[in-house]
Amino acid sequence: MKEKILQILSRSSSTISGESISKSLGTSRVAVWKNIQKLKKDGHDIESTPKGYCLVNPEDLLHPWNFTQFENQIHYFATTESTMAEARKLSNNGCPDFSVVIADEQTKGKGRLDRVWNSQRGGVYFTVIIKRDISPVLSFRVNFAASLVLARLLIDEYKIDASVKWPNDILVGDKKLCGILSEMESSGEIISYIGIGMGINVNNAPAGDGINAVSIKSLIGKTVSRRALLEKFLHEFHRKIAHIEDTEIIAEWKNFTSTIGKRVSIETVKSKINGVAIDVDSTGALIVEKDDGVCEQVLFGDCFYL
Ligand code: BTN
Repeated sequence: MKEKILQILSRSSSTISGESISKSLGTSRVAVWKNIQKLKKDGHDIESTPKGYCLVNPEDLLHPWNFTQFENQIHYFATTESTMAEARKLSNNGCPDFSVVIADEQTKGKGRLDRVWNSQRGGVYFTVIIKRDISPVLSFRVNFAASLVLARLLIDEYKIDASVKWPNDILVGDKKLCGILSEMESSGEIISYIGIGMGINVNNAPAGDGINAVSIKSLIGKTVSRRALLEKFLHEFHRKIAHIEDTEIIAEWKNFTSTIGKRVSIETVKSKINGVAIDVDSTGALIVEKDDGVCEQVLFGDCFYL
């Protein structure tokens, strides 16, 4: 019932009376009123006036029926622990390639290296499920494709001066706008599942201890449609990875990175390397010239600009 009311409100260009909603759904006005209260509690911005109800910012909804492409592959949650966990469950139940799990809010959002990802309402939190046989050598390209596509979108559509920090953070200046986490599963020599999880600060005010983050809203000074952003991203990302074997993702990605040429510290759970980032090779590894002049190929880790 809640979903149906939301759908009616999102398709109405003006205020719609409780009576008219109750007639369309064949229910009582009291039932409509109760469900409107529940929707408000879920965080939906619905104005109640003597004339009826009006959804403020219907453009922002992330329900499958708001998407023109991929509608049948989208799985929406108002709240969930983590879209990564939901994606695993869907994959185990045989969902198709390029299924997408979206949440308005996560209660146990996961960051890289076991960190917590604060996921308050207003941000966009989703995991794209890639289920096609892909060699491990090519699988890393999917991550690079995701950050490349988002950086380009932010620059072209929102005029935001975004860059990518190796391996996949999207920064504006030194502040983080998006983090990407990927999980993989292999069967034998072949990667059979990749979950690309992205948390984008859109209309939220990023919060957390010592947070150095920024949102699109704070950068451009107005609320943006999360649905429009996500729809454009999914469209471009789908196109980009359609021929992942042929495309030269890394060369393209390098046009958007701010890492090469920077003095960096790369930290893993066990080690720390300081030096200058001089390149990203064709496998996606960062080449760091250490202070003793020796070059090291770094396959993973957290990168800090010094
Ligand atoms: C990072 O540490 O930079 C990666 C953050 C990734 C967060 C996203 S939000 C959607 C998906 N679900 C999660 O629990 N994490 C990822």
